[in-house]
Amino acid sequence: MSQNRTCRIAPSLLSADFARLGEEVKDVIAAGADWIHFDVMDNHYVPNLTFGPMVCEALRKHAVTAAGVRVPIDVHLMVQPVDALAQAFAKAGADVVSFHPDASTHVDRTLQLIRDAGCQAGLVFNPAASLDVLEWVIDKVDLVLLMSVNPGFGGQSFIPSTLKKLAQVRQLIDASGRDIRLEVDGGIKTDNIRAAAEAGADTFVAGSAIFGQPDYKAVIDAMRARLAA
Ligand code: DX5
Ligand code: ZN
Repeated sequence: MSQNRTCRIAPSLLSADFARLGEEVKDVIAAGADWIHFDVMDNHYVPNLTFGPMVCEALRKHAVTAAGVRVPIDVHLMVQPVDALAQAFAKAGADVVSFHPDASTHVDRTLQLIRDAGCQAGLVFNPAASLDVLEWVIDKVDLVLLMSVNPGFGGQSFIPSTLKKLAQVRQLIDASGRDIRLEVDGGIKTDNIRAAAEAGADTFVAGSAIFGQPDYKAVIDAMRARLAA
C-alpha cells in the first residue's frame, strides 16, 4: 500500500446532473472531493460524447474550496487525435491532462506538449493494454491512470485483474524514484477502494458511487474511512 502518499478522491462528473454542473462541482467539493475528474469523450475513441474545453473553462471558477483554495481539475481525454484538445484543455484551466497512448501517434511529444502548457501529464491504460510504453517515458509522466472498466460509460463493474496491474505499476513507479500518482478509474465503490489502495493506487475516481447517492459527504467519508482503516 502506498502509505507514504496522501490519498485523493476524484469524483467523476460523468455521473453528475449535467443540467446543474456548476452546483454539482461546488457540492462535491464541499463534501470533501480532492480533485474533480472530467471525462472527455469524442464518440470516436469511445462510443459516447460528453463535454469539451468550453465546459471545463466555465467550471474552473467553481472548482475552489470554501476557503478559496483551487481544486485540481483532472481531465481524462478519451479522444483521438489528442494533441489539439490537450492544449485546449490546458488553456481552459485543467491541472492534470491524461490521454490513452494508443490514441496518440507520438506519445512522447504529446506528454511534452501537455507539460509545456503548464499541466501535469498522465498516461491512461485500458484494461487489456500493455504497459510497455511506460518504460520509455516514465521520466515525463506525472500520473498513471489504470482503467478498471472499459472506457465510455459510468456505472460498470470493476475488472479484478486491475489489482495485479496496479501492483505492477506501483513497482515501476517506486523503482523510478519519481513523484508519480497512480490513479484508478471505473467501478470504484466503498467496498473495493481499500483493495485498490492495497494494490498500490493513491488516487481514486468514483462517479456513480458518489453522484448516485443523495449524500456525497457520507460516501466520501466512508471511502476515506476504508482507506484509513
Ligand atoms: C469511464 C470514465 C470513468 C467513469 C467512472 O470511461 O473514465 O471516469 O466516470 O464511473 P464509475 O465510477 O461509475 O465507474
Ligand atoms: Zn475517467
